[in-house]
Amino acid sequence: MPLFTKNRADAPKVDERFRHIAFIMDGNGRWAKKRGMPREYGHKAGAETFRRICSHCHDVGFKAVTVYAFSTENWKRPKPEVDAIMGLLDSFLDELMRDYEKYDNRIRFIGDTSVLTPELKEKIANAEMLNPQADTTINIAINYGGRAELVRAFQNLAAEGRTSVTEEDISGALYTRESGDPDMIVRTGGDLRISNFLLWQAAYAELYFTDKLWPDLTPADVDDMIRDFYSRKRRYGGL
Ligand code: FPP
Repeated sequence: MPLFTKNRADAPKVDERFRHIAFIMDGNGRWAKKRGMPREYGHKAGAETFRRICSHCHDVGFKAVTVYAFSTENWKRPKPEVDAIMGLLDSFLDELMRDYEKYDNRIRFIGDTSVLTPELKEKIANAEMLNPQADTTINIAINYGGRAELVRAFQNLAAEGRTSVTEEDISGALYTRESGDPDMIVRTGGDLRISNFLLWQAAYAELYFTDKLWPDLTPADVDDMIRDFYSRKRRYGGL
């Protein structure tokens, strides 16, 4: 399937009120199990859904899409499963290098990528240089944890010699400084928690939970999220 193809023209569009959507892509393992297949099969299907959903998010006008692909806790999974996820990332990066001119997205990796293999790190560095003027930024969280991100931000600020900091300073020291806070955080797979994802950035995010397993998520589901977002009143603590 080509990367970031054009989707249906009748989809609702987003405006400056809804610029950034984030996804906790949960349910790949269960999706595979339901089909009597190994968990890795679910991640492969999940990677295809990631492409489809990112393509649609670009087409409807999102400026940023952030996905939770691998948490700091996911290293506890069996090695073949970890290797499979890293392999999917590797093929995605290869595809990106080959086809980047076909789409209008730039890629950023958020999280501590220093522990990845030298080959993956090099591919990530190359991918991040592509399409600097693109309309949509796709942030892929790898070896990411919200608390670890905050600790890193405070350590960086302390290393600069700062003795007092503002909220803006902290936001500016996070991996997401370019994309800002998500307006909506979506979790697939039925669990009602945010699992250490974008802790600081989630302060005013609308939360959206669906029982659908990540590989089953469709562009039409994203359209429902958009309609749901615009039906909510965002007061930010005011009246
Ligand atoms: C959670 O589902 C999903 C993950 C830990 C991995 C997500 C990875 C991908 C969708 C592929 C990423 C690839 C690219 C190219 C970004 P789970 O395994 O915890 O599912 P379960 O709750 O059903 O067990």
